[in-house]
Amino acid sequence: MARVLVVGSFNVDHAWRVATLPVAGATLSGSYATGPGGKGFNQAIAARRAGAGTRFVCALGKDVGAQLARTLCSDDGIDLRAAAVADPTGTAGIYVDAQGRNCIVIGAGANATLAPGHVADALGDVAAADVVLAQLESPLDAVAQALDAGRAAGAIAMLNPAPANVAIDETMLVRADILTPNETEFAALVGRHVGKRIEADAVASLDQPRLHALCRELLPHGSVIVTLGASGCFVSHAESMQRGDSAICYRVPAEPAQAIDTTGAGDAFNGALAASLAQRPGSAFIEHVRFASRYAARSTEQAGAALAMPRLVA
Ligand code: RIB
Repeated sequence: MARVLVVGSFNVDHAWRVATLPVAGATLSGSYATGPGGKGFNQAIAARRAGAGTRFVCALGKDVGAQLARTLCSDDGIDLRAAAVADPTGTAGIYVDAQGRNCIVIGAGANATLAPGHVADALGDVAAADVVLAQLESPLDAVAQALDAGRAAGAIAMLNPAPANVAIDETMLVRADILTPNETEFAALVGRHVGKRIEADAVASLDQPRLHALCRELLPHGSVIVTLGASGCFVSHAESMQRGDSAICYRVPAEPAQAIDTTGAGDAFNGALAASLAQRPGSAFIEHVRFASRYAARSTEQAGAALAMPRLVA
């Protein structure tokens, strides 16, 4: 079975639905729910439910949060390789407003202890047909180890550079074959690595040549997909590696959705993209992106993060 190996965070999410997102000094009322999340885990669940054999590498505490992760991985058939550490399992506080937009506070807990050695052990058998997928809610040396293991095996190394407030350096970028920022992360990366200032909410309206040029400066050797929410996404390839596409850059429109909660929509996109790449290596890249867009749209129609991932096979 085609495999996706996800290295990243698991969090117990505590989410409140509120009319408007809180501002400093506000006290609001909202409806509360808790459930599994963490960018790594959300992406692993998405990859699995999109049909790929999936391994999830993470660090968990020795508490009920860890038990939840173990139970869910077992229920969904995910091969969990968790380091059990003394710190509490990660947590996240999430507010979701009436438009489905969110703001998130992370308590990294055990996620902050994920060690490169654990990642190396857990990814010892990466194969060329696999996709290795990592994000930035884990220590950067562990993320680097994950991408290195993928590249060394000839697998696809995918980096979702989220969240935007985590700064990475050039040595991390060169490890990625595919980079998948949203518009906020893209603006932050372009500011740090290309030295050009762009506003996150202006990214979607940049013209194609401009977006392509920025992507090429950011990741000269690889493919960049900038996810743009309701504006779909933008794909930019290196000339040397167009991944079966006839165009070197293009836009893919968003799938229509009755969105009620966008928490984890980016994770849905990343997990589904990885699953599609692993399962249909002969397809043009645009087909994988279309599938991931469809998958992400469906995920926004359910409340929550990991449990909102649809069973929709690539
Ligand atoms: O991307 C959404 C996720 O970000 C949430 O599940 C939360 O845990 C944070 O990691």
